[in-house]
Amino acid sequence: MAKHLIDPTDLSKEELEEILDLGQKIIDNREKYSEVCKGKKLATLFYEPSTRTRLSFTSAMMELGGNVLGFSDAKNSSVSKGETCADTTKVINCFADIIAMRHFEEGAAMVAAMNSKVPVINAGDGSHSHPTQTLTDLLTIKRELGRIDNITIGFCGDLKFGRTVHSLIKALSRYEGVKVVLIAPEQLRLPDYMKQEVCEMNGVPYVEVDSMEPVIGDLDVLYMTRVQKERFLDEDEYDRVKDFFILDASKLKNAKKDMCILHPLPRVNEISTDVDSDPRAAYFRQVENGKFVRMALISKLLEWSKDPTKDSQLVPEDAVRGKYVCRNKRCISNIETGVESIFRPALDKPGEMRCLYCESKPQTRENS
Ligand code: CP
Repeated sequence: MAKHLIDPTDLSKEELEEILDLGQKIIDNREKYSEVCKGKKLATLFYEPSTRTRLSFTSAMMELGGNVLGFSDAKNSSVSKGETCADTTKVINCFADIIAMRHFEEGAAMVAAMNSKVPVINAGDGSHSHPTQTLTDLLTIKRELGRIDNITIGFCGDLKFGRTVHSLIKALSRYEGVKVVLIAPEQLRLPDYMKQEVCEMNGVPYVEVDSMEPVIGDLDVLYMTRVQKERFLDEDEYDRVKDFFILDASKLKNAKKDMCILHPLPRVNEISTDVDSDPRAAYFRQVENGKFVRMALISKLLEWSKDPTKDSQLVPEDAVRGKYVCRNKRCISNIETGVESIFRPALDKPGEMRCLYCESKPQTRENS
């Protein structure tokens, strides 16, 4: 058993704050932490492209005095011969002390954790979740504004497929006085389960709008996102929405003087380069914070995994096995062999179930 990070809610608010505080301490005194992971190895298993997440994990482990192994293209690994995520994880357990995995199948990091004795970090699973981007975003908000509580944050762009949005809203629901403005066209709105199970259940007020101009003056944080071309099944649909929101310098005229502009990056054209020189543009500072917060996360997960009371409980006691199948075709339970269908009770609707891996609703086996 070990302590994993698959979803932002795997961390208590206290653990989250411990990681953010350690991230700031590392920024203030990098030398002090330069041998914390001496003799330890991080495996970066990236089944999907990445620049920031993979290289910041690599840089983070190197700055902690540890080593890194792994693959950045699954085609060059035995995955191309049909090896499952579960088997690959068992194999990597023989070589590494901690794993960071990015996968296009939703729930892949959960399957990896279920088959791992060493900590698994979800570095992004399909359009589901991206908790280390969330840690990056929270540290950036804290450093830019001096607080995370009592902010109004606008999420703009692809709120349907944007996993960074889903993860950040979940984490922010733990803080006091956070208000959410969802700026998206009809086709890219936040999934219902996020609105119900995360915002409504946690008393997070939200509004949905389809234009940035009327709301920009209310925001403390503007979180821009790329329209996720790779998640669209229909290219015409992507073409219809891809240029819906473009932030340029003229749109910032009515924004607060201390608003901060975040973007998980990469951007395509949703932020014009004339915004880059505005002091409110924090997205490149955000990238650097990502390395420091990943240093903190690696250190903490390795420390916590020595304490059995911190072990992750991946499958809740009231989970139901085998009765349903997941509706989501991108869910690992519908793609890989040997992944048992497991559902947990929905938090928002008594009697409803959610897939353990991707949080989608089930269908009964006879209807599948
Ligand atoms: N923000 C982010 O996840 O970037 P990469 O896809 O480059 O890792």
